[in-house]
Amino acid sequence: MFEILQAAKEEESLGRDIIHLEIGDSSPLNNVQIFNLLKKNLSNAESLQYSPSEGEKKLREAFLYHYKILCNHNFTIDNVVVTPANAAISQVINSITDVGDAMLLPDPGFPTFSLSAQYFEVKKVLYELDQKEGYQLNVKDIKDKINSNKTIKAIIINNPSNPLGIYHDLTDIDEITKFCEEKNVYVILDDTYRCLIYNPTYKRNIHRSNIIYIYSMSKDTASPAMRVGCVVGHESVIKSISKHNSLFYSCLPKFIQLAAAEYLMEDHRPYRIAMRDEMISRIESIDKVFKQTDTISYVKPNAGIYFWINVHKTGMSGKELSLKLLKESGVCVCPGDAFGPSGMNYVRICISGDKRLLVEGVNKMYNFFVKNLG
Ligand SMILES: Cc1ncc(COP(=O)(O)O)c(C=O)c1O
Repeated sequence: MFEILQAAKEEESLGRDIIHLEIGDSSPLNNVQIFNLLKKNLSNAESLQYSPSEGEKKLREAFLYHYKILCNHNFTIDNVVVTPANAAISQVINSITDVGDAMLLPDPGFPTFSLSAQYFEVKKVLYELDQKEGYQLNVKDIKDKINSNKTIKAIIINNPSNPLGIYHDLTDIDEITKFCEEKNVYVILDDTYRCLIYNPTYKRNIHRSNIIYIYSMSKDTASPAMRVGCVVGHESVIKSISKHNSLFYSCLPKFIQLAAAEYLMEDHRPYRIAMRDEMISRIESIDKVFKQTDTISYVKPNAGIYFWINVHKTGMSGKELSLKLLKESGVCVCPGDAFGPSGMNYVRICISGDKRLLVEGVNKMYNFFVKNLG
């Protein structure tokens, strides 16, 4: 990722316009409700006070309100802490593992999973999400890996997935979670894209005591700058994260937390529905363009904000292709190897940015793919 961003900067310093499709940012999908709540909550000196390191009670209650419904489980206030999701990944890993333990991570998967395990000297055992299987969880493979390695303390499941833009079958998640519960293995369920599932019948009400949920408001409310997320799970994990917050940054800004709490408890369905419809329409129109060439292949996204594209037939790796695409067509995409070894021949594009630039970028990519059939 660093290499391609550096190369894009160099092109821009030469005066070239580059279309950026590499970063997972939905903020261009302007959320006016959030803007207004932020302004309203930054109204007097009190809004700049410190707040508790476990988060504002009002925001914790708002998160609980949603998780109680989602999981059909009666969580208490001691089961939730406010923290940015990116930090939460490391905080959870730190609180449940010791040096030398192992963890099961998705390949491909969000890079912080692997970087964090590495940082805490936890051994990474990868489970592959295979294009041929529609990127569904291979339950047997995961069970075999857990059975053959007694040092595995946890598995991370990211549903829906970054970078894949697909959701996993709930029956598989339930079977794995049940199996892990029997084996005393934690399931870290990264829920960041849970409100971005484009199937209205998808419901979730499976909860088990070994699940630790991580959620971020960044993507589905189009507000990554708020840095608001949460962890829901066992009290001991929540306490440990709260201590960590207190030690490292004390708390998130109070006015942001109060705005987030109000948003979660207000009717925010109109924005959610508009965003979902917009994403569905973008997926359809990108699919229409890309499916005209068989130089590339992909599983059409049904969730999230990404297309994960197999570029194997161009004869280039994802990294080589990204650099060539940048130089020849002025489009910056994310090389797949940033997400794990199975991403070597893939690139990821984010589809929640500026619409005009997205359409232009996708058309340029299409022309590039047609020209570069390996
Ligand atoms: C799967 C996943 N988890 C966690 C995060 C981190 O979210 P945040 O940037 O809101 O901290 C991201 C961000 O891209 C993500 O894709």
